[in-house]
Amino acid sequence: MRKLLVVGIGAGNPEHVTIQAINALNRADVLLIPVKGEEKAFLADLRRDICERYVSNPSSRIVEYAVPRRRSDGSYEGGVHDWHHAIAAIYENLLLTEVAENQIVALLVWGDPSLYDSTLRIVEHVRARGSVEFGIEVIPGITSIQALCASHAIPLNRIGLPVEITTGRRLAQEWPPGVDDIIVMLDGVEAYRTVESDDAEIYWGAYVGTPLEITLSGKIGEVREQIVETRRRAREANGWIMDTYLIRRNSSPEEGSGEQ
Ligand SMILES: C[S@@+](CC[C@H](N)C(=O)[O-])C[C@H]1O[C@@H](n2cnc3c(N)ncnc32)[C@H](O)[C@@H]1O
Repeated sequence: MRKLLVVGIGAGNPEHVTIQAINALNRADVLLIPVKGEEKAFLADLRRDICERYVSNPSSRIVEYAVPRRRSDGSYEGGVHDWHHAIAAIYENLLLTEVAENQIVALLVWGDPSLYDSTLRIVEHVRARGSVEFGIEVIPGITSIQALCASHAIPLNRIGLPVEITTGRRLAQEWPPGVDDIIVMLDGVEAYRTVESDDAEIYWGAYVGTPLEITLSGKIGEVREQIVETRRRAREANGWIMDTYLIRRNSSPEEGSGEQ
């Protein structure tokens, strides 16, 4: 039976790649690299760099494939559903045409496959289609949340308190009830601008772990405009942006900044 390795590769620094991931990449006969678009080009380059650095298996080969664009007309859920099924059809075709029976194929997944990533859901769609059998193994990776906290040298949670991980779209609708600490990802709407508590601390990071990394932190009321401007300039310079942030409300002075 074919085997699919879903390998977390970390959030942008090739040194995030774990020894477990390196060993998995070296077990693979085929390494799948998604390409397309300006942002994808950067992400694809990092995946190629990781393969160049760490893959010493002379009989493995890289197969690049184009990722279809998600349609933005119609409902968000409907668009995502159709997009996932389109990618499932691509995976199915790659498994059937590029990976022989009893071979191992690796998918290099940004960050960790369990966090805001649909690879594992899509792989289940492939299985449900029923035309190709395969086993699956997941190798965890460093997430962008861990990379963000490391760059700011802060703990993710306050002692005994919960942290909610959410999206920009959701935060723009309302602050999640019952928590004061939130991580915001996938923010295409700059939801931090809608946060009214000017005293809340924000720890923002773009392209964290990559040579393009930018971080800013402080009270939202004081750094909001600086983040807006920094983000705008970075996006203009690079053609794309990938950012994540932690917002911490109601912190006492001694636990507030998390800095020395
Ligand atoms: C589709 S999710 C993938 C998350 C990934 N699986 C992880 O473990 O971090 C993409 C979002 O992750 C965040 N992200 C990923 N890499 C990042 C990085 N290097 N710097 C800042 N944010 C990042 C951004 O919020 C981006 O919109």
